[in-house]
Amino acid sequence: MPGEYSAQIYRAYQDEIGGEAFFLAMSDLLKDPDHSYKMCVLAQLELETGQLLKSILAEPIGDLTDDIREREMGRLEASHCSNASWHELMILLRDDLPEYISRYKELEKAGRVEDLACLWQLTKHEEALFSFCEQEIIGQSGQSLEPVIHLLGKIPDRTR
Ligand SMILES: [Fe+2]
Repeated sequence: MPGEYSAQIYRAYQDEIGGEAFFLAMSDLLKDPDHSYKMCVLAQLELETGQLLKSILAEPIGDLTDDIREREMGRLEASHCSNASWHELMILLRDDLPEYISRYKELEKAGRVEDLACLWQLTKHEEALFSFCEQEIIGQSGQSLEPVIHLLGKIPDRTR
């Protein structure tokens, strides 16, 4: 496996680790149970996407300290967003996504045949997040999670 390709997959994996920590921390911070649950579902999407990426990494590149650092950064980012309204948060999240979507579409083009299903899923998960944010922004909050749930292996229970 070429080094650069491997490194990109590892980077994407690390982003999922940070994303999961971010969404879990947001879930804790948000008062509205519906918003909190939605963050929990997004965290699950990040977790499952990260696991997929890990499964196609040919050999370990980094170590656990990378994961710990990413998690800390995810939590820190969440604390920076703690004063944002839900609407503002959705806009912030959405505006981050097009860059990832185009980056991962490029990665799909460079992907090994055996990795393509996984890389497709990587792009799809960003598109599902984008769709989620867009639906929330226009007030269609009842259906917003559908594309996300469609990709999930396990749907989190509502705890509150
Ligand atoms: Fe992600």
